[in-house]
Amino acid sequence: MSLVTTKEMFRKAYEGGYAVGAFNVNNMEMIQAIVEAANECRSPVILQVSAGARKYANPVYLRHLVEAAVETTDIPVAMNLDHGADFEICKACIDGGFTSVMIDASSKPWEENIAITKQVVEYAHDHGVVVEAELGKLAGIEDDVKVADHDAQFTSPDEVQEFTARTGIDSLAIAIGTSHGAYKFKPGQDPKLRIDILEEIGRRLPGFPIVLHGASSVPQEQVAIVNEFGGSMPNAIGIPESELRKAAHLAVCKINIDSDLRVAFTAAIRKHLAENPSHFDPRQYLGDARANMKEMVKHKIVDVLGSANKA
Ligand code: G3H
Ligand code: 13P
Ligand code: ZN
Repeated sequence: MSLVTTKEMFRKAYEGGYAVGAFNVNNMEMIQAIVEAANECRSPVILQVSAGARKYANPVYLRHLVEAAVETTDIPVAMNLDHGADFEICKACIDGGFTSVMIDASSKPWEENIAITKQVVEYAHDHGVVVEAELGKLAGIEDDVKVADHDAQFTSPDEVQEFTARTGIDSLAIAIGTSHGAYKFKPGQDPKLRIDILEEIGRRLPGFPIVLHGASSVPQEQVAIVNEFGGSMPNAIGIPESELRKAAHLAVCKINIDSDLRVAFTAAIRKHLAENPSHFDPRQYLGDARANMKEMVKHKIVDVLGSANKA
């Protein structure tokens, strides 16, 4: 099967009350882990590539690795640019075979966000590619941009109709309390999402697919493995999976997960090397990392997103 857009995936997810996982990829093992997990769960899946991933792996390698993964399965797979900062990077990805791009001009003033987003939508739609954009500001780290907690802003439901109508986007990322990275809430903070805002946005945009970024849950058992085998990750609380399930039942059709996969990958490598100090064949520890990440993706698909058997 070849890459698909998210159009049909989101229509089914909206109607079915589940969400499709968008997992960040940086190398072959990660792509294999995600696609094998989705294939075994018979789930649609979105592989997403950030500017940082393109810089790390080279866009040509990523494209061919994703194409190779798609050849191994018949489930629907979309390839999305994550947090495209400007028209140029979106255009490069559209020209390079992506089926979806995110233009993230959410830090720009209102009219500028609309103008850039509209420009991307026109080019993307001419090429059969769908576009995600963002309103509101998530706290945390994306590439080199850090948004401090006090600068984070929930999405205003009053803005969503005008924004989607004037830009023509296909899906909208909103800020309702999620944040990027592995450190979202400090112990003692209440890790709740503003489900009331999501419900209101759903009322204003009936049938329209909503996206949640920064949706890792930071599984404590994986953090514990990292720390048991020489790491020093501070204790942090992620987004409770119960909150994500609520969001998936509502208008949220795409849930972005990166940090949890990184933690799973790293936990397995630390454990492998600590338990097998004589090993130096990368296939041994990367094989364990891939297997652990695959289990994490399966868990998300089955227990959080609800997208198993929806391929
Ligand atoms: O939202 C950001 C994603 O987790 C990608 O992270 O920019 O470090 O590749 P990155
Ligand atoms: P996490 O850091 O919570 O995994 O979020 C990833 C993300 O939103 C990618 O765009
Ligand atoms: Zn994000």
